[in-house]
Amino acid sequence: MCGIVGYIGSRRAADLLLAGLRALEYRGYDSAGIATVVGGKLQLFKVQGKIAALEAKVDRDDNSNCGIGHTRWATHGKVSLRNAHPIVDYKGQIAVVHNGIVENFLSLRKSLEYKGVSFSTDTDTEIIVNLIAYNLYNGESIERAVKLAIDSIEGYFAFAAITSLNAESIVVSKRGAPLILGIGEGEFFVASDAMALLPFTRRVVYLEDDDIAIISSKGINVWDKTFKAVERDYEVVNWDPVSAEKGSYKHFMQKEIFEQPRAVYDTISGRIDPLDKRTILEVELPKEIDRIQIVACGTSYHAGLVGKFLIENLAGVPTEVDYASEFRYRNPLLSDKSLLIGITQSGETTDTLRAVELARDRGLFTLAVCNVPMSQITRITDETLLTHAGPEIGVASTKAFTTQLVALYLLAIALGESNGYRFPHLIEDLLHLPVLLDSCLRGIDSLDGVSDVIYRSDSALFLGRGINFPIALEGALKLKEITYIHAEGYPAGEMKHGPIALIDEKMPVFGISGVEDQLNKKLKSNLQEVSTRGGKLIIVTPTPEAFSGLEAYLIPVPKSNQYLQPIVNVIPLQMIAYLVGVRLGLDVDQPRNLAKSVTVE
Ligand code: M6R
Repeated sequence: MCGIVGYIGSRRAADLLLAGLRALEYRGYDSAGIATVVGGKLQLFKVQGKIAALEAKVDRDDNSNCGIGHTRWATHGKVSLRNAHPIVDYKGQIAVVHNGIVENFLSLRKSLEYKGVSFSTDTDTEIIVNLIAYNLYNGESIERAVKLAIDSIEGYFAFAAITSLNAESIVVSKRGAPLILGIGEGEFFVASDAMALLPFTRRVVYLEDDDIAIISSKGINVWDKTFKAVERDYEVVNWDPVSAEKGSYKHFMQKEIFEQPRAVYDTISGRIDPLDKRTILEVELPKEIDRIQIVACGTSYHAGLVGKFLIENLAGVPTEVDYASEFRYRNPLLSDKSLLIGITQSGETTDTLRAVELARDRGLFTLAVCNVPMSQITRITDETLLTHAGPEIGVASTKAFTTQLVALYLLAIALGESNGYRFPHLIEDLLHLPVLLDSCLRGIDSLDGVSDVIYRSDSALFLGRGINFPIALEGALKLKEITYIHAEGYPAGEMKHGPIALIDEKMPVFGISGVEDQLNKKLKSNLQEVSTRGGKLIIVTPTPEAFSGLEAYLIPVPKSNQYLQPIVNVIPLQMIAYLVGVRLGLDVDQPRNLAKSVTVE
């Protein structure tokens, strides 16, 4: 989703802005641009397409030391050069880059037009820049002009602005959307997330909602939501910039698939007492929890569905899982002893953040399961259980998902332990999981046969039962987002209630099996129904013998316990999506229309 960068210091701003935008590419975008001030005038460079094209366009003689940049993921206004950011005001003296949505866009536009302000793009960003401009041209200071602007805006935003009237500063503000400031040696940075700052500094300032900050080479001045001047301390980010690079891998997605044993190991580390075979989680939860509500989106939602199984089976606490975007608008019934868990890789997903806020406002205890330390969600929840996947750059979630499952497994055991249960065998299995994943990855380098089938298909079905049903959903999501091949995940037993009509000899059907005999027998019968109708079966299974006699392509995977098996099973599905995407010549790290962090509703 939209990425913002800014730079002020003594180096050539254009270089730093382009480097920052490259680091934010993974968020997803369709156009890009930068603005600087040269000779008292705004200088703009924009492209529809990739940063490489922007690089080629930027003026070699632009030696300005201050500027802003943007990668746009279109919301208001179609993808076009005109709508690409930075967007300038009606007199061409202020440029703004923005992430978020101005919800009262139409009424604000009408009232500005009534005052004689003209518009030349279809973006809601133009509202912001014109509001600031209108106030500034009417004699307000820049900070006051921004304050008046944000007070009239409804919605969530983060933006950075520069003006040719003062080439020595950047002004920023945020509400609900991510924006951080970086402090270097005699230079300052603005960015949507820490990834863009890591090559330059680890000292970052996290702004509060409705803060306004003016950054100049002398320092940072901040006003809070009451317009009182305040100090905001910096924090030190400890992510390793090297782990955010591709190394010898062709794609980030490939690298991140292969990093899973390490990521899982890191997520377990320090959280198990190996002698006592108990969990030692750093989070402190309320003593009495009568039910759990999980909210999440996309892949994180699938992790939540697995989490429900784990928590209900291991801790005996009734658990519900909602898409965050649905939860917010369904008037959920929550007791004051409910625990709300928000699962999010990025910690930035707007729907998840708003759902967590809703629960928090109703007085619930809230817990984030999140991969990005210090991200937005960690600032609004009571506790955070971090997954230690490290930076995930590929848009498709892989290691973030498996580490979420590990975190939820640990949490379910911890909740069970606090209810008086003990699970030494499950703990032993968990300690063995990184080795198992490693051997799974070594064993699945021969998936070309499957990718051959999928590559030629228009559609695919993924079937699973019980705790492996969410893995069917996740397999289908991976395939569609990476290869653009239509795919659906279904509970295997539901197939005969509709999707069976789709089965013919062109339809590949994946069966995802667990370790339980009884469920495998049922799954086998469901898959038999597919085979009878000519569907091509591909079965991911830790127990190949359970599917003997079926005409199928078997993908054997290492066997774990029933609760950890989904983590193993998903690996070949990620790999197949990756292989097919590469084979189709697609951009597997940045699939079309997708964004890594979805910061709009
Ligand atoms: O950062 P989050 O986990 O909150 O993101 C949620 C979804 O946007 C994300 O999982 C998305 O579905 C991925 N592209 C899946 O691969």
